Amino acid sequence: MDVNGISVVITGGASGLGAGTAKLFSEKGAKVAIFDRNLELAQSTARELGCAAVQCDVAAEESVIEALQQAGEINGTPRILINCAGIDITGRTATRGGGPQPRDALTQQIAVNLTGTFNICRLGADAIRQLDSLEGEEQGVIVNVASIAGLDGPFGQTAYAATKAAVIGMTLPMARDLSGYGIRVATIAPGVFNTPLAASVLRGEPDDYAGSVPFPKRAGRPAEFASMALEICQNPMLNGEVIRLDGALRG
Ligand SMILES: NC(=O)c1ccc[n+]([C@@H]2O[C@H](COP(=O)([O-])OP(=O)(O)OC[C@H]3O[C@@H](n4cnc5c(N)ncnc54)[C@H](O)[C@@H]3O)[C@@H](O)[C@H]2O)c1
Repeated sequence: MDVNGISVVITGGASGLGAGTAKLFSEKGAKVAIFDRNLELAQSTARELGCAAVQCDVAAEESVIEALQQAGEINGTPRILINCAGIDITGRTATRGGGPQPRDALTQQIAVNLTGTFNICRLGADAIRQLDSLEGEEQGVIVNVASIAGLDGPFGQTAYAATKAAVIGMTLPMARDLSGYGIRVATIAPGVFNTPLAASVLRGEPDDYAGSVPFPKRAGRPAEFASMALEICQNPMLNGEVIRLDGALRG
């Protein structure tokens, strides 16, 4: 799909990978709406990029319904949904000093990373399904964001990895479910990227982690993630697939 003139929603677009994607898609002529829980940051990113900011908590159904409605009024019903909103709560399953990991570590991450992604996909896809057909063969594209942790998770990431493995698991059945409506679904599984989230999880500069990356020996850049999201939108044969983007980093 040529993204020029297309209405695009990018969740978590106020920061990190989502902000990098909002920048590239805006440069390519897409009509981008950033959906983020943090409205102030979303507005400042949107001002810089010349796109729209909409407050949205992806975990809350009502908030997603309202935000999709708002995006529709601003840019037209979104045909491309890019799900970058996510949180990462680290901690080991049980430790001598700390006892069992709090159950909330899992439930909070399920709410945002899994339910949040599913909310945007199901509500957004239902709206795309009802749009007039575009010329050509496809009607919409969904790009979900997992993590290599969902494939080979490191220490302290059991709960996060479980939510990301679930996003990976949704990819093929969702692509099959939506195929009859010309909507493709693909998932990016990033390695370590230079973002505020990675800096807080790694407690330092993501680039300092680069020794473990075979090549290139640095953290990924949001622009490189954005370029993969754009390729997924532009290449009609990419469907039902999970793509690692990690410089050959393995857990
Ligand atoms: N940065 C990495 O190294 C890396 C690696 C693998 C996967 N990921 C995944 O990529 C995605 C983006 O991460 P990032 O590194 O850009 O993080 P980030 O913290 O820079 O950006 C995440 C954004 O999501 C927003 N957000 C959080 N909860 C939300 C909610 N409930 N509703 C709406 N918005 C919400 C935050 O406000 C923030 O703006 C996440 O899903 C993350 O798990 C990141």
